[in-house]
Order: sequence, then C-alpha cells, then structure tokens
Amino acid sequence: MKKATAIFEEGHHRWYAIARDPMRPSFLIDTNEYLVQSGHDALLTDPGGMEIFPTVFSALAEVVDPTQVRQIFASHQDPDVISSLALWIAFNPNIRCHISRLWETFIPHFGGDKQTLIGMPDEGKELHVGVAQLQAVSAHYLHSSGNFHLYDPTAKILFSGDVGAALLPEDDNALYVKDFDRHIAYAKGFHVRWMGSNQAKRDWCERVSKLTIEQLCPQHGAIYRGADVMRFINWFDELKVGMA
Ligand SMILES: [Fe+2]
Ligand SMILES: [Fe+2]
Repeated sequence: MKKATAIFEEGHHRWYAIARDPMRPSFLIDTNEYLVQSGHDALLTDPGGMEIFPTVFSALAEVVDPTQVRQIFASHQDPDVISSLALWIAFNPNIRCHISRLWETFIPHFGGDKQTLIGMPDEGKELHVGVAQLQAVSAHYLHSSGNFHLYDPTAKILFSGDVGAALLPEDDNALYVKDFDRHIAYAKGFHVRWMGSNQAKRDWCERVSKLTIEQLCPQHGAIYRGADVMRFINWFDELKVGMA
C-alpha cells in the first residue's frame, strides 16, 4: 500500500511524498505523488492514473483532510500523471488543475471543463498554496512539448516530473537514492528514450542548477537529496538524449 511520508516540515508548511508502492500491480508503472500543504490549503502534484486513485486517496487522507486539496498540478498530459482527474472532480467539483496551456483542450477528455483547467503560459507562473509561494518552472520537451516542474523555494524542493525518473527493480522501494552510481543505471535508458531535446535539456540544467534544491523529487523512482541533486543535474547535462 502507498503511504504518505513527510519530507519537509516547517510550521504549517509541509510536503508529503506518497511514493513507492511495493503492492502495486506489476502492469502499472510505479508513480510518486507529492502533497504540498500550507495551513488548511493543499495542492497535489501529478495525482496519477484512475487505476491508483483509491490508493492515493486513502494514503493522502491519513495526513490531510482531502477537502483541503483545492489544486492539482499536472507536469504534463500523460495517463500516469492525470487520468484520475475525473475522480478528483467527482469528489470535489471545485478542484482546479494547473497544466500547460497546450493541454487545456486535451485533458478534458479525461474529465474537467473550462473552469477546472487552468492553462499555464509557456514561461510558467507563481502558484499559491496557503501562504506558500511556489513557482511553475518550464521544462518543455522534457519529455512533453508542454511540460512544467514545480519549485518551492522555502522547502528547497523541486518536483521534476519525469526528469530524474528511474525504473527500479521490483524489490527496491527506498524513498531516497542511496547509491547514485547504482541508481542512475536504472534512469539512463528512460532519459535517453523519453527526453526528446538535447537543447531543451541543456537549457533546463543551466536554469535549475541556479536554484537552491535540497530534494529533487521525480514522478517515478527514488528522491535525490543533498549532493545527489547536483550529481543528477551534471549527469543529465552530459547525457545524449532523444535516441531510439
Ligand atoms: Fe510522462
Ligand atoms: Fe511519468
């Protein structure tokens, strides 16, 4: 079963990782959801597919009142990212979903309408959760043509969507990367194939290396923390991507 683990806590400002599910059926790619809470307001990043909605919902309900989840941040349009949207709307019709403006008219095929979907401009924008101010950071072509990451300067957390993802062996369910060199071998094939643009990747590495990041939190696999964050950015910078 999934469970929510606090990965940052400062007063009423918290981040939870609903990450690594040892019980997931093997036909589903494992996904990480993250919950940002500030006071009585919460935002959920990449809530996942409809298949895992009950697991995510019950893990989340252990730590926050689910009615406090008023916003969803979708890094991009994939089914493992946002196909649960209709179920979240059934629970709370007032929920709002931030996604690239490119996907505004595609995502309603999963559910939601003009009111639900808030299209983000290419350059990104500021998001507010309670008193916390977060930044949607552009990451276009990594891997989607309209793609965003979410940075919290107070928590020093970058939610990086599919960037940093690793397809780990089934018995490896650790929350954090322990041995970078061993870990990155499970990330390489994914990045080479799924990341489409070397130019976009270089630009992202340059921008993101200027941010203070203590935890880089991908949508699949373990979280990079401390020195492993820069290790990952440097590794990604060197990697040739966009090859089948
Ligand atoms: Fe994806
Ligand atoms: Fe993904």
